[in-house]
Amino acid sequence: MRAPSQVPAIQLNSGTEIPQLGFGVFLIPPEETEAAVRQALEIGYRHIDTAQMYGNERQVGEAVRASGLRRDEVFVTSKLSNRWHATDEAVLAFDRSLEELGLDHVDLFLIHWPLATVRDFMDAWRALERVHREGRARAIGVSNFQPAHLERLLAEGEVAPAVNQIEVHPYLVQDPLRAVGAAHGIVTEAWSPIGRGKVLADPVVTEVAQKVGRTPAQVVLRWHLQRGDVIFPKSSHAERMRENFALFDFELDERDVARLTGLDRGERIGPDPDHFAMVPS
Ligand SMILES: NC(=O)c1ccc[n+]([C@@H]2O[C@H](COP(=O)([O-])OP(=O)(O)OC[C@H]3O[C@@H](n4cnc5c(N)ncnc54)[C@H](OP(=O)(O)O)[C@@H]3O)[C@@H](O)[C@H]2O)c1
Repeated sequence: MRAPSQVPAIQLNSGTEIPQLGFGVFLIPPEETEAAVRQALEIGYRHIDTAQMYGNERQVGEAVRASGLRRDEVFVTSKLSNRWHATDEAVLAFDRSLEELGLDHVDLFLIHWPLATVRDFMDAWRALERVHREGRARAIGVSNFQPAHLERLLAEGEVAPAVNQIEVHPYLVQDPLRAVGAAHGIVTEAWSPIGRGKVLADPVVTEVAQKVGRTPAQVVLRWHLQRGDVIFPKSSHAERMRENFALFDFELDERDVARLTGLDRGERIGPDPDHFAMVPS
C-alpha cells in the first residue's frame, strides 16, 4: 500500500490503488509550490493533485524528488489542458507533463473538462487510452463529466474511466452523478471539498464541529471520507495542512452525515461543466 497506514487506499478499476486523502495544488503559485508540496509530504500526504493548466507540475515533481520518498510511495495525478483535446496534441501534451514532472509515469491522468460544446472529448480519450496502454499513465479518468458525457465515454471508449473528479461539498452534494459513477465502478473525486472555505461558517457545520470537538474543515472533510469519495484539500499554510490531514481518529454518526448532506442547495463555486468552454490560447 502506498499511503501511510491511517489513510485508506481505494481500489481503482485499473487495478491500482489511490490514497483517499491527498493534497491539491490549484492556485498555488509555481514559486510557492515546491515548498508547499514538500511540507505536505513531510506531514504525511502521499497523493498530489496537479494539472497542466495549474502551471506548477515542474515544482510538484521537484518536491517529490526532494522528499526522498520512493516513486511508488507517492501517487501523482495530472490533467490534460483544455487546449490539447486533438488526439496527437493530447499525446504530446502528456509527454510534456512527464517531462515537467520529471517522472516516467503518472499514477492518474485526467481529461480536465469535457468541453462538449466546442470539442470532441473522445479524441482526447483515445490519447489517454494510448498512454495508459503504454504504461505511462497507470490509470486514466475524467473530470467535470456529467452523466451524458460518462455514458458516451463508456459506450464508445475501450477503457472505462477510473475516476470522475467533480465539484462536491455540502452545498453541492452531487448524489445523482456520484451514483452514475458508482454504478460503473468509477470512483468520485471531490474537488473544492470545503467549498474553498465557503461552507465552513454554515451553522450546521459549526454545530457538528462543536459537538465532536473538531474544526469545521475536519468535519466536512470527514463527511467526504465517510461517503467514500477521494479528496485533496488545498492549503498554503502548514497548520491547515496538518488540520486537514488529522481525520482518522474520529467519526461522524449517520445522523450528522445526513445533516451535512441535507445542506445541498445545488450551489457551484466553479463553472457549469455543460457550458464551460474555456480553451487557453
Ligand atoms: N478538476 C477541476 O476542475 C478542479 C477544480 C478546482 C479544484 N480542483 C482540485 O481540488 C483541489 C482542492 O480544491 P480547491 O483548492 O478549489 O478548494 P478547497 O480545497 O475546498 O479549499 C481551499 C481554500 O480553503 C482554504 N483552507 C484550506 N484548509 C482550510 C482550513 N482547514 N480552514 C480554513 N480554510 C482552509 C485555503 O486557504 P489557504 O490556502 O490560505 O490555507 C483555500 O483558500 C485543488 O487544489 C485541485 O487540486 C480541481
